[in-house]
Amino acid sequence: MYNQKQIYREKTVFVTGHTGFKGSWLCAWLSLLGAKVIGYSKDIPTTPAHFEFLKDNLCSNVTSIIGDVLDREKLRNSLVQFRPEIIFHLAAQPLVQYSYQNPVETYETNVVGTLNILEAIRVNQTLNDCVKAIVNVTTDKCYENREWVWGYRENDPLGGYDPYSASKAASEIVTASFRNSFFNLNNYKKTHNTLIATARAGNVIGGGDWAKDRLIPDIARAVSRGEKVIIRNPMSTRPWQHVLESLNGYLLLGEKLLIGKSEFASAWNFGPNDNGAMITVEEIVKIVKQQWDSTEYIVEKDNSNNSNRSSGSMSGNDIAHEAMLLKLDSSKAITSLKWKNNWSYEQAISKTIEWYKNFYLERKINTFDDLQAFLMASLTKYGDK
Ligand SMILES: NC(=O)c1ccc[n+]([C@@H]2O[C@H](COP(=O)([O-])OP(=O)(O)OC[C@H]3O[C@@H](n4cnc5c(N)ncnc54)[C@H](O)[C@@H]3O)[C@@H](O)[C@H]2O)c1
Repeated sequence: MYNQKQIYREKTVFVTGHTGFKGSWLCAWLSLLGAKVIGYSKDIPTTPAHFEFLKDNLCSNVTSIIGDVLDREKLRNSLVQFRPEIIFHLAAQPLVQYSYQNPVETYETNVVGTLNILEAIRVNQTLNDCVKAIVNVTTDKCYENREWVWGYRENDPLGGYDPYSASKAASEIVTASFRNSFFNLNNYKKTHNTLIATARAGNVIGGGDWAKDRLIPDIARAVSRGEKVIIRNPMSTRPWQHVLESLNGYLLLGEKLLIGKSEFASAWNFGPNDNGAMITVEEIVKIVKQQWDSTEYIVEKDNSNNSNRSSGSMSGNDIAHEAMLLKLDSSKAITSLKWKNNWSYEQAISKTIEWYKNFYLERKINTFDDLQAFLMASLTKYGDK
C-alpha cells in the first residue's frame, strides 16, 4: 500500500468528477501520496459538498477546473495544458432514479463523456505521449443482471435495464472498443503509450456524500435536523462497503498501468466482502441508532411492489425498477492485484456514521483521520505489499 506513495508522488494525475463524493476522497488520498492533482468537473454537485471542505486543507494543492466532459475543446485544452500521466475518469451522472427522468443527459454524460476522453488521447500526439494510463470508473450495474445469487465475473455479459446501468455498460463497451482498435495491447509501446482499464464497484458509503436518495446521507440529514427517518423498504438489502475500498482498488490498478504492466489493462471488479455484506435497511438504521442515539425512524408502507432492491435508493422514494440481486466476484482483483477489503461492513458503517456525527455535531471533517485509519488497517491486516 505504501509503495503507492512512491508511484504517485510528483505524478500529474487528472481526476474527472473530483468535486463529487468519490472524486473528492480520491483527490484527498492522491494529495496525501504527493501527487499533483488536476480536477475536472462540471459543477459542485451537492450542498454541502465534501470537496469544498477539503479545498483549504487536504486538497489545497489540487488544481480545480470547472468544465464539462461534453465540452471537447475545453477538455482537450485542459489535458494538453497539464499533460497528466494518468487519468481517473469518475465524472458521470451516477443516479439510477435521476436517469429515468433524464435518460439523454445520462447517456450523453456517461457514454459520450467517456468517448471524449479517449478520443482526446487518440487524436493528440502530445497526450498520446504523456498519458500512460486511464482508469475508467463504471459500476457493478454494468452487468446483464440475471437476478442470481452468484457473483458476476469480469467476463460475464454486459447489460443494464435502467438508463444509468445501460449507459455504464455502454461506457465499458466504448472503452474496450478503443482499447482494441486504437490502444491495442499488441501495439503497446509501438504505436501508442496508453494502457486503459475499467473499474467496476458497487454502491459505497463514507462521509461526505450528500447525493439524493442514499440511505446513510438521508439518515444523517434527518437526524441532524431532529427529524424522524422515514423508511419505506425496511427489508431491502444491499451490500455495504466503504468508499476507500473501491478507491484503493483504483489506485492499485492505476499503479500497475503506470509501470507499464499491460496485462492489467482490462476490466476489474472491486466488490464488498461476502460475510454479512447484505443486511437490511432496518438493521442499518438500528446500527446507526446504537452510535447516534437521537436517531428515530418510522416505517411507511411501500406500495411500489418493489421492496427488495439491492442498490440505489433505499429511502424508497422511487417507483422505477432496480436490480434485486447484484453481487460481484472480485477474485481477479484479489488474486492479481492483491486487493482486499480492509474494513468489515460494521467498521464501514461505523466510520461513516462517525464522520457525519462529527460534521453535524462538531463541524469537524474526519476525512484525514479515516484515511489514516484505513491505511493503518491495511498495514496491520495484510502488511505492506
Ligand atoms: N457512489 C457510489 O456508490 C458509486 C457506485 C458505483 C459507481 N460509482 C461511479 O463512481 C463515479 C463517481 O460517483 P459519485 O458517487 O462520486 O458521484 P457524484 O454525483 O458525487 O459526483 C459526480 C461528479 O461528476 C461530475 N460531473 C457530472 N457530469 C459531468 C459532466 N458532464 N462533465 C464533467 N463533470 C461532470 C460532477 O460535477 C461531480 O464532480 C461515477 O462514475 C459513478 O457512476 C459510484
